[in-house]
Amino acid sequence: MPDTERTTNTERVTNTERTTNTVGTQARGKVVAVTGASSGIGRATALALAERGAAVVLGARRAERVERLAARIRADGGRAIGVPTDVRRRADLVRLVEAAVTAFGRLDVLVSNAGIGPVSELGELRVDEWDDLIDVNLRGVLYGIAAALPVFRGQESGHLVTVASTAAYRTVPGQAVYSATKTAVRTVCEGLRQESGDVRVTVVSPGFVHTDFVHAVADPDARAALLARRDAIALDPAAIADAIAYAIAQPDRVDVNEIVVRPTAQR
Ligand SMILES: NC(=O)c1ccc[n+]([C@@H]2O[C@H](COP(=O)([O-])OP(=O)(O)OC[C@H]3O[C@@H](n4cnc5c(N)ncnc54)[C@H](OP(=O)(O)O)[C@@H]3O)[C@@H](O)[C@H]2O)c1
Repeated sequence: MPDTERTTNTERVTNTERTTNTVGTQARGKVVAVTGASSGIGRATALALAERGAAVVLGARRAERVERLAARIRADGGRAIGVPTDVRRRADLVRLVEAAVTAFGRLDVLVSNAGIGPVSELGELRVDEWDDLIDVNLRGVLYGIAAALPVFRGQESGHLVTVASTAAYRTVPGQAVYSATKTAVRTVCEGLRQESGDVRVTVVSPGFVHTDFVHAVADPDARAALLARRDAIALDPAAIADAIAYAIAQPDRVDVNEIVVRPTAQR
């Protein structure tokens, strides 16, 4: 796929280095729904998977963005549809999964990527932000599981990939609630893994990635500091997309449970 916006690790490696090419083989033909596909990691993941031959179902609130991305993938010969999705609404996740089954006959993978990350210390009492973090980052992932599991059970196979964060492993001042949601999501996924014999469960935890994520930080000084650090060290979202594609590409009996990907410079 010609894509000037996507300079991935994958594109940089040579054909010789890709002789095993398990990624290209195994993702091909899979049906993958991605939440938060309108920007950042979700968008990069949609492009990476479409490039590897998966059919992609793109969910986010900004409907025009996911539709434009789907149209571009189709124009490049891929298979894609956009579905307006707000992960705070359980019915929207059901609709996303149904759209995959209707358009492509099945759902092999749900990538629960949608997330928000406003940063503030607890003492600022931004209680509305706490509620939003729980609703999007935790409840949204649970609603995705609720929507996908019945389909996975019917197929006797499926794969839930959840984008958590290194904040699930270590919190810092200003990120207590964000970390709590990501830690909770990791725990939910581990529980799901233990309970589900035929569903693969993967948590991908990025460090700092160059996306719009930090724009949600309300405090101007904190936002400026984060933007400067992002521009200095953050990873291209394609690095996370490649990690997600790796997990999806494994044979059905291989369940990659956790992947942590940080910029080398991140402490
Ligand atoms: N960037 C980082 O440094 C970093 C680090 C660790 C983990 N992460 C995680 O990576 C994931 C993706 O973030 P990103 O960095 O790619 O940021 P981003 O560019 O801001 O993308 C966030 C995505 O989530 C979607 N979203 C937000 N609220 C939603 C809702 N209620 N319903 C549906 N979609 C919603 C947004 O789409 P709409 O606004 O169109 O709905 C957007 O597509 C998040 O889970 C985040 O926690 C990011």
